[in-house]
Amino acid sequence: MANDYRVKCVPEYEIDTRTASQIVALLDESFPDTFDGRTYFKQLPHFRYLAFEGETVIGQLGVDHRVIRVGGNIIRIFGIIDLCVRLAHRGAGLASDLLKQVESLAAASNVDFLVLMGDVDTLYIANGFHHVNPAMTKWLAVEDVESVTIIERDLSDCFLVKPLRHTRWPVGNIDMIGYLF
Ligand SMILES: CC(C)(COP(=O)(O)OP(=O)(O)OC[C@H]1O[C@@H](n2cnc3c(N)ncnc32)[C@H](O)[C@@H]1OP(=O)(O)O)[C@@H](O)C(=O)NCCC(=O)NCCS
Repeated sequence: MANDYRVKCVPEYEIDTRTASQIVALLDESFPDTFDGRTYFKQLPHFRYLAFEGETVIGQLGVDHRVIRVGGNIIRIFGIIDLCVRLAHRGAGLASDLLKQVESLAAASNVDFLVLMGDVDTLYIANGFHHVNPAMTKWLAVEDVESVTIIERDLSDCFLVKPLRHTRWPVGNIDMIGYLF
C-alpha cells in the first residue's frame, strides 16, 4: 500500500539520471510498449510531481504549463500528463493525492483550469473533473518525436477539465497551440 511516501514537485531540468531511469521503469510498467525507453511520450513536461517510497519513484504526473485558445478566449492551464502509479501501490489513493497536490499549486497560481486527456473516468470524475462536450480540438501531431501535421477532431470522449476559479469552461473550438499531451 502507498501510505508511507513523500511527494516532490520537481522542475524537469533538475531530474537526475537515477530518477530518470526510475521514471522510465514506472512508465514502462504503466503504459507497456509506449515510451521506448524515454521519460516522455511526445515532449518533456515542464515539471513533475514524483511520489517516492524511500528512494524509489512509485508514482508520477507531468505538468505542461501553457495557454490554449477556447472559442475567443485565451486560458491558462496546467495540462496533466502520464499520471501513473507502480502496480504494487495502486488502489491506495496515491493518484488522487498527486491530483490534489497539483490542483493546490494551480489554485495558488495564475492558472484557470486543469486539463487532461484521460480514459479512466472514475478516477478523474471522483477528483472533480468533467468532460468537455463537444470538444472540437486542433493540435500539432507529434509521432516518434517528430512534428507531423495539424489534426482537428472532436475529443469529447477523453477531454477532461477541472475549473479552478469558479469559471465555466468556455464554449467553442479548442486550439491547443501545440502538441496534445
Ligand atoms: C490509473 C492509476 C493512475 C490510478 O492510480 P491509483 O493510485 O490506484 O488511484 P487511486 O487509488 O487514487 O484511485 C481513486 C479512485 O479512482 C478509481 N480508479 C483508479 N484506478 C482506476 C482504474 N484503473 N480503472 C477504473 N477506476 C479507477 C477508483 O474509483 C478509485 O477509488 P477506489 O479505490 O475507492 O475504488 C493507476 O491505476 C495506473 O497507473 N494505471 C496505469 C496507467 C494509467 O492508465 N494512467 C491513467 C492514464 S489516463
